[in-house]
Amino acid sequence: MRQHVRFYLGDRLHELEGISPSLTLLDWLREHQGRTGTKEGCNEGDCGACTVMVVRSEHDRLQWRAVNACIQFLWMLDGAQVFTVEDLAASDGILHPVQQAMVELHGSQCGFCTPGFVMSMAAHLRNGGALDDAAINAALAGNLCRCTGYAPIVRAMRRASELAGEQGDPFDAEETAIRARLGRLREDEPLDMMTAAGRISLPTDSATLAALYARNPSAVLVAGATDVGLWVTKQQRDFGHVIAVRTARDLNRMEQGPQGLWIGAAVTYTDAMAALIALLPEAQETLRRIGSTQVRNSATVCGNIGNASPIGDGPPLFIAAGAILHLRKGEARRCVCLEEYFLDYGRQDRQPGEFIEGVFVPTQPQNAVFRAYKVSKRFDQDISAVMGAFSLEFGRDGLIAQARLAFGGMAGVPRRAVAAERALIGRAWNSAARDAAMEAVREDFSPLSDMRGSAWYRTTITANLLSRFFEETAEGQQVCLEGWRTVVPGVARGTGL
Ligand SMILES: Cc1cc2nc3c(=O)[nH]c(=O)nc-3n(C[C@H](O)[C@H](O)[C@H](O)COP(=O)(O)OP(=O)(O)OC[C@H]3O[C@@H](n4cnc5c(N)ncnc54)[C@H](O)[C@@H]3O)c2cc1C
Ligand code: FES
Ligand code: FES
Repeated sequence: MRQHVRFYLGDRLHELEGISPSLTLLDWLREHQGRTGTKEGCNEGDCGACTVMVVRSEHDRLQWRAVNACIQFLWMLDGAQVFTVEDLAASDGILHPVQQAMVELHGSQCGFCTPGFVMSMAAHLRNGGALDDAAINAALAGNLCRCTGYAPIVRAMRRASELAGEQGDPFDAEETAIRARLGRLREDEPLDMMTAAGRISLPTDSATLAALYARNPSAVLVAGATDVGLWVTKQQRDFGHVIAVRTARDLNRMEQGPQGLWIGAAVTYTDAMAALIALLPEAQETLRRIGSTQVRNSATVCGNIGNASPIGDGPPLFIAAGAILHLRKGEARRCVCLEEYFLDYGRQDRQPGEFIEGVFVPTQPQNAVFRAYKVSKRFDQDISAVMGAFSLEFGRDGLIAQARLAFGGMAGVPRRAVAAERALIGRAWNSAARDAAMEAVREDFSPLSDMRGSAWYRTTITANLLSRFFEETAEGQQVCLEGWRTVVPGVARGTGL
């Protein structure tokens, strides 16, 4: 059993024993390595000041990912190469194209956010990202700047691409060396490291993970750490024992068939995005608005279910789509309908030592309509106030045969609106059915008031989302956004209308 974590920082190999399970990459970079170019802003994944670039070799291809160092644990770098802002400029002082472009186009004032921006830009450049406004905005949505304004930074992104076209991206020349380094790190021996501060287990397959977690049910499962990271940085928790999910290679598997899409527990939103959009094209905008590029690069689809947040975006979406959750304890496996997994706030249908092995999202029937709407205060990188995902299936008679109306933000768990569903079954999808569902949905929930929205706001939005769903999907209806906006003034901004 391996007893040390191994990764490269820049081109230097680090083999670390005895590290704490809760030591973050950011703290290690700044406090142990003196790499203070990587900044600490929010320490919760929101501002992007701590962005670094992590390279891994997956299926013989190099994956270049911008991630937030503040919510990555150091041990999560095992097997990777990490680049910080100090690695961008060449040793002869020649700037990387993104740095040069930021200088030329005045993309920096106080400079605090700049290292994070240039790392996100370098990753976007490296991945051959598109240069239209939408693509650049999406790539940089996880980076906040309070001085410069975003226009010069967006222009700098385009200029960086021109410069890279003229001079080449400096990482082109590095690829062979990086492949060789990562090849040397790739090993099949699992890591189980006992340190003074706790135990770190990195199983390399799901069977090892299952056996380990069944024997150690009080251990903390960590997938992308975009939630668990905050337990440390915001709640100052220490972990006695962590078990990694993403190191189990067979869980990093997606399978698309005629019946639907299987997403293993290690698959991130970034990796699942194209397949999820192909399966649920009407949910495209909602899916793209989950977190930011850095968050989606780490966050797993199953971690979004595992955290059982009442305001997570994935659960309502997948409940409306009829997803099935696959659970495993040791060698015992079982499946539950996703909505049945969420029992109550903080309580799920999961036994001690049992974990989510994957989720199956079925192909939507031809005779169904599907929509998903995220309502949040900001368009990007914001948690929902209300999330609604709806599916109606029609019978041969043209009447509604099945309704799945799922909401987040309306109760202690993501839940279906059963009264509203009942009001729709067996009816034509017309304005009378819409009105009945809008009336019934008020019985379904007694939401809380909090900083994201009052109970009145949430209840009103819930009904209005059903109205919007009707306008967009009922035969013969014209989408009437102006009319919808007047129902609740001011809502339109957060929903992306
Ligand atoms: C800045 C920021 C923005 C965010 N924006 C959004 C957003 O817009 N929408 C949204 O829905 N979420 C958002 N999140 C929350 C979070 O990113 C998601 O919930 C994410 O999908 C969690 O996945 P993870 O892999 O990081 O989980 P982790 O943090 O690793 O784990 C989360 C929880 O699930 C458990 N867990 C993980 N894997 C398993 C498994 N296989 N079996 C059982 N339990 C498991 C863990 O023990 C933990 O309790 C945001 C987070 C941050 C920091
Ligand atoms: S410090 Fe703000 S995202 Fe990490
Ligand atoms: S330049 Fe000051 S925060 Fe961006």
